[in-house]
Amino acid sequence: MGKDAAQEGAIESHLQEQRRFPPSAAFAQRAAVDPAQETRLRRRAAEEPDAFWAEVAGQLQWDRPFRRVREGTFPDARWFADGTLNAAVNCVDRHLQGPRRNKAAILWEGEDGSRATLTYLQLHEQVSRAANVLRERGVDAGDRVVLYLPLIPEAVVAMLACARIGAIHSVVFGGFSATALRERIADAGAVAVITADGGYRRGGVVPLKANVDVALSEGCPSVRDVLVVRRTGAPLSLVEGRDRWWHEALAEVPRTCQPVSRNAEDPLFILYTSGTTGRPKGIVHCTGGYLAWVAATTAWVFDLRDDDTYWCTADIGWITGHSYVVYGPLALGATVLLYEGAPDFPDRDRVWGLVARHQVTVLYTAPTAIRAFMKWGPAHPARHDRSSLRLLGTVGEPINPEAWSWYHSVIGNGRCPIVDTWWQTETGGILISPLPGVTTTVPGSATTPLPGISTAIVDSAGRDVQQGEGGLLVITQPWPSLARGIWGDRERFLQTYFSRIRGVYLTGDGARIDAEGYHWVMGRVDDVINVSGHRLGTAEIESALVAHPSVAEAAVVGTPHELTGEAVAAFVTLKADVEVPDRDALLQELSDQVVHQIGALARPCEIHLTEGLPKTRSGKIMRRLLRDLAAGRQVQGDTSTLEDRAVLERLREQEERPGSD
Ligand code: WTA
Repeated sequence: MGKDAAQEGAIESHLQEQRRFPPSAAFAQRAAVDPAQETRLRRRAAEEPDAFWAEVAGQLQWDRPFRRVREGTFPDARWFADGTLNAAVNCVDRHLQGPRRNKAAILWEGEDGSRATLTYLQLHEQVSRAANVLRERGVDAGDRVVLYLPLIPEAVVAMLACARIGAIHSVVFGGFSATALRERIADAGAVAVITADGGYRRGGVVPLKANVDVALSEGCPSVRDVLVVRRTGAPLSLVEGRDRWWHEALAEVPRTCQPVSRNAEDPLFILYTSGTTGRPKGIVHCTGGYLAWVAATTAWVFDLRDDDTYWCTADIGWITGHSYVVYGPLALGATVLLYEGAPDFPDRDRVWGLVARHQVTVLYTAPTAIRAFMKWGPAHPARHDRSSLRLLGTVGEPINPEAWSWYHSVIGNGRCPIVDTWWQTETGGILISPLPGVTTTVPGSATTPLPGISTAIVDSAGRDVQQGEGGLLVITQPWPSLARGIWGDRERFLQTYFSRIRGVYLTGDGARIDAEGYHWVMGRVDDVINVSGHRLGTAEIESALVAHPSVAEAAVVGTPHELTGEAVAAFVTLKADVEVPDRDALLQELSDQVVHQIGALARPCEIHLTEGLPKTRSGKIMRRLLRDLAAGRQVQGDTSTLEDRAVLERLREQEERPGSD
């Protein structure tokens, strides 16, 4: 495409972005946050912040009520620190006292069509039993338990069981390899692992327990116990003295379990996410501030009511699954749908069949999924009743206006507001999002910060940029659900988020704010890439490649991809003495090496063998050049974000100046 045509395309879609979607009167009338309530919240947050935050946290059930709201500031703000509570009690026990006792907490469908329902009362029993099993095996408050499970009810039970006894769970996504699992178990120093004999994915079985066996055989001396959920019935061997079947263990213990009161600042979980170095970082979230904010934002953004059936399609291996499958919705006593498998199995209408069968009212998914649905065509949703839907959400990546419009018109029949929610593993909960009964939405913008959240766009020296100009997105005031640290690496926590620009939290995203205060998030400015809404560190993939005996050096960059947002492009130089009799075989080996070390989600879409990598005089790889190269091989698709890409490149260049880190 010529330059003029590209520019025209960009301008055209920029104009398109100016379409506005005000909330319907009908929605606004019943919304949890209506315009009057919004005004009140924002005013209170600005004028009496302590009272505002106390009101947010006051929605939880505290064992010992807090008297102090916030102490200190970035990077060490502490919230509600003299209060105590238990997260599992908040998500389960407190709903037993009233009409929610026999309400469905979890509706579950396996990929193979199995189904289960757990009421709050049943969830309570399961969580209590699982907590008793852990306690009996000597798992104490503060101990780490790794969960490596398919998306089955037991996964939620296991998380809440840990929370009940104050153990810190660390969920590892089932798509990660044995090597990646081992690394996370070892870093967390976990004493127990909860897994399953397998999980279904696109008709196949993911060998979860076999991966655990490999991981543990490679040195995770801290692990004493492995609990195995029976899911597929595949034959497997249990290691004497270490492994037990979940169902047998649960059957042998009492069905009530005294919960442990936790201090608000005690850790609730660790969740590993990718950063800019080779090692994944264990993001630590605390109990009180985290739970308070995810519960509040679930109420504000998803507008959940007792008659809703809510479906967030994220896996519990990601932060979205923690905050908006488990903790937020269950804290509100909602009915949550869980689906184990792939959206296109056995057919491309699976998601819409689920929506119709369970009469889903609120659906929260990722732009990648929406782009796939778009590609598969409108006939699939058209086959199913979607009239139950009343609100749609997206998360994880910038959503292109085309996908937004398709979601709105085809999936929502133009009736449902869309909440494009911006947030991160580190932020714990949603920070920038429309309020569905209040905010006029514009396709492609996450709109404005929620009440209590303050943002700014700055340059690399920390100065505010001109309005409308691209820059680094920072959060300027503490909020309760910010991560409390990186497990075992205080220095990295300070370095990554708080050292480059003083006095604020650095998100790592590039963004601009328009004249109406709407935020346009463009993507990462650091060496983190976002494939299908999953964060991957380029350095992690590079170190997987360099571990191959033939490889001298590797550089990995993200390249635009029409379905997955970004895809992994790798440039590899081989050691001088390496002969390559079969190039394709070598490329396959390199690709498999990445899958082996990290998981299939990190598989490169292209690997280029090169003589050398372009470097600055100080020896830094010139990633911008590689990104251009990688993108040049792509067919030009959507041009709407071309302008943003140019800004992003400039920001990245600033980040990549020699000596900038
Ligand atoms: C990106 C996922 C644009 C962003 C909850 C962020 C988004 C990273 C949006 C965090 C959005 C998330 N619009 N970009 N609505 N939501 N992102 O930690 O780059 O897996 O930094 O958390 O996803 O990814 P993470």
